[in-house]
Amino acid sequence: MTRTEYEFNVKRKDDGGKVSYSRYMVPKDRISTVLEGLIYITENLDQTLSVRYSCRMEICGSCGMEINGKPRMACSTIASKLGTDKIRVEPLKHYDVVKDLVVDIDPFFEKYREGLPYIIRSDDGNYASELKQTPEEFKEYEKYSMCIKCGLCLDACPIVGTDPDYIGPAAMAGVLRYNLDSRDQGSRYRLEIINGEEGTSRCHFVGECSEACPKGVDPSFAIQLLRSQGLKHELAKIFRRE
Ligand code: SF4
Ligand code: FES
Repeated sequence: MTRTEYEFNVKRKDDGGKVSYSRYMVPKDRISTVLEGLIYITENLDQTLSVRYSCRMEICGSCGMEINGKPRMACSTIASKLGTDKIRVEPLKHYDVVKDLVVDIDPFFEKYREGLPYIIRSDDGNYASELKQTPEEFKEYEKYSMCIKCGLCLDACPIVGTDPDYIGPAAMAGVLRYNLDSRDQGSRYRLEIINGEEGTSRCHFVGECSEACPKGVDPSFAIQLLRSQGLKHELAKIFRRE
């Protein structure tokens, strides 16, 4: 007999730190995505369940969680495509849990900021017009600019799991995004950072980050390109006798 409900098993953590799983039955004809299932639960079954989301269209990056053991965006995960009626939902594992499915994302943004994710200029910034860029120049970094800061790549990365100080895949994709921008003149500062102990050398190229990324940013490939940029940077320093 075909089941008419999904069985959601949601990992909970209360204010006192107690961890448990709650089971909810959600009618299949009321939801399409896993996020809709969670919203159905909060609106109809259990108002104490905490979930974070905003855009519902894979833009804001706030609904990352583990769904049936994989880091995914709840708003773009179609329940019927999971291949099972049982849906296990857990918070991202490499972050501290605030409550239930809500994690503390601050460490992610601290790492992201470490990579100096903004245009750096060596002139005084006093321009008669905007800094122009050709479509070809934009194409150079477009892919890396698609990051929505969802943090799934850090959740998937086995190195982040063992070394919380590792800068991580998202920040490094951000470094490459600005290093490839024709308007930027600050790549040497960023390369100093990612050539450090907690930078590209910590990556083992497992590729899990790129697999988890919902926007096709491919942070694993970005790290490989940064390794090459970093090497050239070090060689240039030797020739300049720095
Ligand atoms: S690189 Fe991809 S997975 Fe990582 S934060 Fe950006 S969008 Fe999310
Ligand atoms: S709710 Fe915005 S990305 Fe999912």
